[in-house]
Amino acid sequence: MFVFENVKYKNIIDISKLSIEPKKVTFVIGESGSGKTTLLRLLNKMISPDIGEIFYFGEPLASIDSVKLRRNVVMLSQSPVIFEGSIKDNLLIGLAFSERPEASDDELVVMLKRVNLHKSLKQSADNLSGGEKQRVALGRVLLMNPDVLLLDEPSSALDEETEKLIFDTLTSHTRNNGKTLICVTHSKRAARSYADRIIEMKNGGAEEAV
Ligand SMILES: Nc1ncnc2c1ncn2[C@@H]1O[C@H](COP(=O)(O)OP(=O)(O)OP(=O)(O)O)[C@@H](O)[C@H]1O
Ligand SMILES: [Mg+2]
Repeated sequence: MFVFENVKYKNIIDISKLSIEPKKVTFVIGESGSGKTTLLRLLNKMISPDIGEIFYFGEPLASIDSVKLRRNVVMLSQSPVIFEGSIKDNLLIGLAFSERPEASDDELVVMLKRVNLHKSLKQSADNLSGGEKQRVALGRVLLMNPDVLLLDEPSSALDEETEKLIFDTLTSHTRNNGKTLICVTHSKRAARSYADRIIEMKNGGAEEAV
């Protein structure tokens, strides 16, 4: 689905060849500063390679309209933005940005359950804890229901048990709906339990993790 050919970005990424398969759960691990976030940003065209080419289903990303691409390839950043307003407002904002119809309150309540957040839709999102905000942001991108989800450390603020619930939800959603998940994590243990494939970022390159 994604193919990298001789891709260089600053002195951060140097990948001669990498393919990422569709309809799989791929985890990306590697030391802090190894280029994991940069790799995800390349995949949804937030940034572009200095040298080389990335293909999406055979088409160079360079020739795909960024807005169109980001309807199908959605990234949840490492420190997601929570906007002023209620949990509901924050869940709906991804759909609004991508000019899609609103979800009903019933659908939003189901989504809160899926991300294991036991709060009311009306509650202000401001006072939520870091981990609760992380789950609101995750609900926001899941509502957009993209073909490809790029998640940057979605469980960094979660306890072990909540992390497990969230990864169970994410991986079963991916596998049951023919979606593609590419997820950065610091947790090798989580990667080993959930991934079809693990890529390790090292010295700018992307290696198969053992
Ligand atoms: N736009 C940029 N210009 C210059 N250097 C950058 C830029 N973006 C990131 N870097 C540097 O590139 C390296 C890789 O950054 P990146 O954010 O991809 O790492 P990471 O693997 O996600 O780390 P972490 O686990 O801490 O989130 C870091 O040394 C970072 O400081
Ligand atoms: Mg990062």
